[in-house]
Amino acid sequence: MSEVPNDIDLSRIPKHVAIIMDGNGRWAKKQGFLTRMRGHEIGVEALRDIATASAEIGIEYLTVYAFSTENWNRPKAEVGALMELLVSTLGKELDTLQKNEIRLNSIGQTDALPKKCQRELNEVKDATRNNKRMTLTLALNYGAKTEIVNAVQTISEKVASGEMKSTDIDESVIDQHMFTADIPHPDLLIRTSGEYRISNYLLWQIAYSELYFTPVLWPDFKKHDLHDAIRTYQGRERRFGKTSEQIQST
Ligand code: FPP
Repeated sequence: MSEVPNDIDLSRIPKHVAIIMDGNGRWAKKQGFLTRMRGHEIGVEALRDIATASAEIGIEYLTVYAFSTENWNRPKAEVGALMELLVSTLGKELDTLQKNEIRLNSIGQTDALPKKCQRELNEVKDATRNNKRMTLTLALNYGAKTEIVNAVQTISEKVASGEMKSTDIDESVIDQHMFTADIPHPDLLIRTSGEYRISNYLLWQIAYSELYFTPVLWPDFKKHDLHDAIRTYQGRERRFGKTSEQIQST
């Protein structure tokens, strides 16, 4: 814990941090690399450092947008290389996950990923399933609108079959039909690279998340940038619709 700056309040660390890791392509271009893949490769290193720093500071859930349903529209070569990178990363990072007691999890339609990715993903998820310090969730072939559509379909089928009444549907029922059923909603959402968009990420779950945007490109996002985001989070007042006076009196 010695590496945590003492102006960070360890009793108010966000329990769940979600990240949109954006800017890999622009980083590669800026550095003069000919392919965007170099940016994704260094992006993996940034992810390793941020996952380790998150576990170290006491974040319990870290959810990162690794591949969106829209990313299939990228050039075929980039999609293929990203899938290869996913396979090689999962294979290589098992030690880091075990050493830091991180459980690997995923959200999204992973059954549409190449078989090799699915196999590797399942192996690492299985090998780390008893790790308790932090859950690292990879959003892979994930899109929030598809997630909501799937939930509505499943719930409608349950109503149609009589397993559930339409009046039983409340927020917790919807929560239970999301990919994120077993994890709390994010307290803090970070997007790198100076873009101010949510891009179909966790739309239902971020209703009350604090949003943090930084111009830093993802491959350059370091532990001190994570600490800056947490400091900003700790400086905000989360009111959940109440007044400031009500929050302060509790
Ligand atoms: C956005 O940068 C990033 C992605 C679409 C993929 C994120 C992937 C990684 C960090 C590495 C792969 C992850 C794993 C777990 C293997 P961009 O390409 O959209 O950047 P740009 O906006 O500058 O073009």
